Amino acid sequence: MKPSQLEEPGTLAERAEALHLLPGWFRRPTPLLWREMRSQCVPAHWRYQEVRECLQQAAHEVSTEEAERRNLIMCNPIPDNDHATLRTLICAYQTMLPGEKAKSHRHSPHAMRVILESQGAYSIVDGHKHPMASGDIVLTPGGSWHGHGHEGSEQAYWLDGLDVPLTHLLEPMFYEPHPDHWERVAQETAHSPMRFAWADTVAALDRAEDDPTGHFGTTIALPTPMMPTITLKVSRWPANWSNRSYRHTANVIYVVMRGSGRSVVGDLEVDWRFGDTFVAPAWSRVSHHAAEDSVICSISDEQLMRWTRYYRLEDLGQGQTPRIRGVAAASGSR
Ligand SMILES: [Fe+2]
Repeated sequence: MKPSQLEEPGTLAERAEALHLLPGWFRRPTPLLWREMRSQCVPAHWRYQEVRECLQQAAHEVSTEEAERRNLIMCNPIPDNDHATLRTLICAYQTMLPGEKAKSHRHSPHAMRVILESQGAYSIVDGHKHPMASGDIVLTPGGSWHGHGHEGSEQAYWLDGLDVPLTHLLEPMFYEPHPDHWERVAQETAHSPMRFAWADTVAALDRAEDDPTGHFGTTIALPTPMMPTITLKVSRWPANWSNRSYRHTANVIYVVMRGSGRSVVGDLEVDWRFGDTFVAPAWSRVSHHAAEDSVICSISDEQLMRWTRYYRLEDLGQGQTPRIRGVAAASGSR
């Protein structure tokens, strides 16, 4: 700054403000740095049976013509949030009736689905048609054309997971409806890199080694090289298994594919069963106990946290595992 400029009127704060500058040493309501991470999201639990009833009502009241995707978004129950399930991820339950089609589109966010109940539903991803059967996990990498249809006889239900909140943060959102409304099928295949069939997942779990850390249970990672912001894992927790408690810097969405049990996430006790979703914001204390043989899909931002070198895990030891008080009992509030 030249001496003549120093002689101009106005305090430093006024000058700085006029130049869209803020002195870094000024006290501010929210500091720029703090001692330890604290997610703005909270642990939460959605019971599939309750959601399923809403989806059945929605199927009667809303067509796939009116709603391109007939889904119910799991909004983390914090003020002023209308979409994020966790800081980087969004999840929704979706349903289709036999004979329906959901138009093709493409968008920047990466997406995946856990198929809960379906015989005859399918996806077309970049012209490749593959089944979406119960227990399957299917992928739609960002930028891929994708639409869905249903050739079965029973209402289909699944869970969608996307990195939409992350896309909003980074801002590279693009969305485009397919010019033909429904993408033409170029090839039909049951064996697609976009589909992890239930039988293959079970076989991979059978071959998997035990988790030496005791935190996660026997776990396989599903490769998602085209969508590096989303980590997909499937864990098998045998009846009466409990984990070593831990917390880590990944945001995790748990989807119950088989079984039942109880988890404690932060202060929330969750009695979970088939189809339920519960979420652990990053750095929440997590303890699990399986009441029955269980299979859990976890959707997280772990590899993103690792890539940025933000990942850390803290072991919180044994003795923190939740006791089952009866999985039929109501679980913690959200
Ligand atoms: Fe989509």
